[in-house]
Amino acid sequence: MKGVILHGGAGTRLRPLTFSGPKQLIPVANKPVSQYVLEDLVNSGVTDIAIILGETFPELVREHYGDGSKYGCRITYIYQGKPLGIAHAISLTRDFVGDDKFVVYLGDNLLQYGIKEYVEYFLSSDLDGMVLLKEVEDPRAFGVAELNEDGELVRIIEKPREPPSKYAVIGVYFLTPVVFDIIRKLRPSWRGEYEITDTFQLLMDEGYKVGYKIIDGWWFDTGKASDILMVNATILDERIKRDVKGVVKDSKIEGRVCVGEGTEIVNSVVRGPAIIGKNCVVKDSFIGPYTSVGNDVKILASSIEYSIILDGAVIKGINRLEESLIGRYSQIVRDEGNRNVVQMNLGDYSKVTI
Ligand code: TTP
Repeated sequence: MKGVILHGGAGTRLRPLTFSGPKQLIPVANKPVSQYVLEDLVNSGVTDIAIILGETFPELVREHYGDGSKYGCRITYIYQGKPLGIAHAISLTRDFVGDDKFVVYLGDNLLQYGIKEYVEYFLSSDLDGMVLLKEVEDPRAFGVAELNEDGELVRIIEKPREPPSKYAVIGVYFLTPVVFDIIRKLRPSWRGEYEITDTFQLLMDEGYKVGYKIIDGWWFDTGKASDILMVNATILDERIKRDVKGVVKDSKIEGRVCVGEGTEIVNSVVRGPAIIGKNCVVKDSFIGPYTSVGNDVKILASSIEYSIILDGAVIKGINRLEESLIGRYSQIVRDEGNRNVVQMNLGDYSKVTI
């Protein structure tokens, strides 16, 4: 079985962060979202992987993953450019896929228990395609599965006003090479994209066998800042173990906290679950639960909770920073002499709530 990770897309909902990198490289618990995807594939025995690149800094993706050997896999890069749709991205993988079955994984989707059991199931089945479904409270924003009385999948409807079930189609698709002929017959949707839901619908309409599995555990699609903060909190909660390196002076490090080498924590409290990267300075500050701090960050006389602070940021004199996603090398500094003045130097699409 081969694997395909979708690493393109425009990422408009994650501006301004996507002005300087693809959204799938935004770290949660100090690891890029798409690296969880790659590790899930490798852990499921899928080690021949194509990464589809978009227009947003594709070179950063190559720089991070290289030839894959660091991650125990072999990576082929395929350039998509403009986001013409998930089915369009899949159509570019024909030579890579050859005669194999394959799994397409959106590079911004995360599953609590991974996909190993579904890989094994699909490999041993005679299905031509398979989707994974997750029961959600309000399915109207998703592709939704319609099942008949016998529990067979009969239709997939994109963002229905009246959903036929609570089962959303999530961003992991199991396919066989018959799909390439199907995609060739598709027309772009009203939003100008070649849609994955249309692909599965046409597979079914043409009599191919399409199955499904309903997943347990959480599933996140990290398309918006609030989703990323939620995934960050969830992963810190479930996967962080206490491991304190660096230098800690006159400080309290409570619970499951990871601190990287070269980091100095002085006269501060860090309450887990939290992670702080390498070569940071934390002084006279409180870092609260569900916070991830990257490398080379300075946090001085501030208090931060439920946030992600990316590499090189400086935060000084900020009393309560919460639910925030702070981009690389950003500076948030309180001017001591001028407490009532707010002075800002913000990039396009920045968002500040004060
Ligand atoms: P989306 O989140 O639907 O699209 P987007 O990245 O353009 O985001 P936004 O709506 O904020 O502008 O895409 C789902 C995933 O598939 C995501 O990981 C990006 C990837 N993708 C591609 O690689 N190529 C494509 O043509 C499209 C549409 C998406």
